[in-house]
This record gives sequence, structure tokens and C-alpha cells, in this order.
Amino acid sequence: MLNKIAVIGGGNIGGVVVQEAVSRRLARNVALVDVKPPEFAKGKCLDIAEGTPVISADINVEGSREYDVIEGADIVINTAGVPRTTRPDGTMPTREELLGTNLKITDFVSEGIARFAPDAMVISIANPLDAIVYRLHMNLKKDRSRLIGMAGVLDSARYRLFIAQEAGVSVDNVQAMVLGGHGDSMIPIRSACRIAGMPVEQFVAPEKLDALEARTRKAGGEVVKLLGVGSAFVSPAWSALEMAEAIAYDKKKIMPVSTLLKGEYGVNGLFVGVPALLGKNGMEKVIEMDLTEKEKELFKKSVASVQKTADEVIAMTQK
Ligand code: APR
Repeated sequence: MLNKIAVIGGGNIGGVVVQEAVSRRLARNVALVDVKPPEFAKGKCLDIAEGTPVISADINVEGSREYDVIEGADIVINTAGVPRTTRPDGTMPTREELLGTNLKITDFVSEGIARFAPDAMVISIANPLDAIVYRLHMNLKKDRSRLIGMAGVLDSARYRLFIAQEAGVSVDNVQAMVLGGHGDSMIPIRSACRIAGMPVEQFVAPEKLDALEARTRKAGGEVVKLLGVGSAFVSPAWSALEMAEAIAYDKKKIMPVSTLLKGEYGVNGLFVGVPALLGKNGMEKVIEMDLTEKEKELFKKSVASVQKTADEVIAMTQK
């Protein structure tokens, strides 16, 4: 059991993370900071704390609008950001405006982490994932083992579900990796997709796989459209907790995470989704996997789009 896990942003995703961290007894102390008035985080945590006797969980749950509540956290999960929604005047913010707003929020978040939990392991979920995690890296200058982004676990879970449904097998039987950036350029790695250790093509026809991979790339948007408001929140929260548990229990578990590459896969200085081993020291090792020529090509394209995002983030810093 960890001593303390802190969540930044207690909206849809952060709310599930706090609730699950408590019900899974992941840490003795669970803290939430959210700037939303009047005292949103306090209210959210009081609600959860009042349920702890019912589930026999001796866990201290504390929420605040002030960042000092995260003090001393072992793991920080960042979900702070604003979604792309229509303004009261009916207009939509441009992608650039939205990125500008979310980068400002990330600067604020970074200050809070640097001041109150400088040694924490940081797992970031906020979107646009590639941009936010890069900005956190610029601001916090952490060793790469201590700052990772959550994207691949969720993207791979979506790919696994679609394949399990198509093949008519348990989701447990499907192993898969989705790599690259967290956007349309992500790459479901078919050559590494196995059903009970056997190649996926033995169960699902290639044309069907093409369609399922295309669906995986657009899966976030599919949920947004169906919900009508907000975006997926349970599956992203569970995915981040999967990463937090691997660290908390020193599982040495390999999963796809957005991590700073230092020459692996021929990439230097960018956060890209690749398989990595997670344990008590955070991101302990990047695992290089064999890719087919086609997958290598797609990986390169995805890296180019991540590079473009990083350039945008740097340009916005200099403004
Ligand atoms: N510090 C702390 N919390 C903040 C800050 C800040 N500087 N700025 C915003 N928040 C809070 C908001 O008050 C809100 O409660 O972050 C929360 C975000 O919650 P939601 O709007 O419900 O968004 P959610 O669906 O949880 O997604 C969070 O993760 O996957 C991404 O695209 C998603 O970027 C979004 C983020």
C-alpha cells in the first residue's frame, strides 16, 4: 500500500480515479486538488470519505482547491484540463486556443507538483496527451522514469475488446499493443497481437482486422459522439490505475506508455507510446519490439506528428 496518491483535477476522470483508488485501497491517503468553486474537491472527497466505513476502508480522503493537499504524494495522477466544448456565445475554441488554455493549466499544475510533491511519480492523462506530457517534462525536468503519459493502455484495451468481441473469446485471451502518439496516428501492432498465444489472423480475417484497427484509432471520438457531452472517463481512469498499481506493487509489468525516448526506436527527446516495464522505480525500462516494415513506416509517421505537437508546445512557450 502506498502512503499517498494524489489526483489533480476531480472531474469525470479524476472522480473515478479517486473513488477507485479508495475502493482498491491503493494508498493510505488519497488527495484531490481541483480549482473548481465553491469547494468541489472537498465535496467530492467528503462524499467518498463518508462511504469508507461502509466498505471498511481506513483511508484518509482529502480534497481541496489548494495544491498543498497533494504534499508528499508518492504518485500524482494528472487529469486537469478543459474539454473542447461550445462557448456560451455558441462558438467553439480553435484547436490552438484549446491547446493554449490547457498548456496554461499544465503550467499551473507543474508549479503545484514542483512545490508540494517534487519527488512524486507523475502519470498524466490530460489531453492533448502528447502536448501535455511534453510540457510537464519541460517544466518539471524529471528523470524520465518518473513522468509517463497514459494512452497506450487505453488504446490497447479498446483494440483488445474489439478483437475479443469479433473472435468470440475472452478479453483475457487477447494480448495487444497500440503504440505511437495518442491521436489518429496511433498504431495497433497487428504482428504482436495474440489470442491465447496464437497469431490474431488465425481468428480474425485481415479485412476485419483493418476495420477494427481503424475503429481503435477513432475509439475516443466514438464515445464522445455517443455521450453527447464530455468524453470517455471510466476506461481512461482504470487505465491510469493499471499503471499506478504496477508501480505501487512493483509488478515489473510491461505495458504501452508514453515515455521519453532516448535513442530507442531511433527517437530522441520525444514522448512516444512504446512498451515499457513499470515497477517501484516508475518507468524502469523501455522495451524495443520487432516491428514489420509497414509498422515501422507507420511508427515513423506517428513520431513525426508527435514532433509537430512538441514543436507547437515549444513555440507556444516562447510567445
Ligand atoms: N488545477 C486543478 N484542477 C483543474 C485545473 C487546475 N489548474 N484546471 C482545471 N481543473 C479541473 C476542472 O475544474 C475539472 O473538474 O480539471 C477537471 C477536468 O475534469 P473534466 O472537465 O470532467 O474532464 P475529464 O473528462 O475528467 O478529462 C480530463 O483528461 O482525457 C483527458 O480529454 C480529457 O483533458 C481532459 C482530461
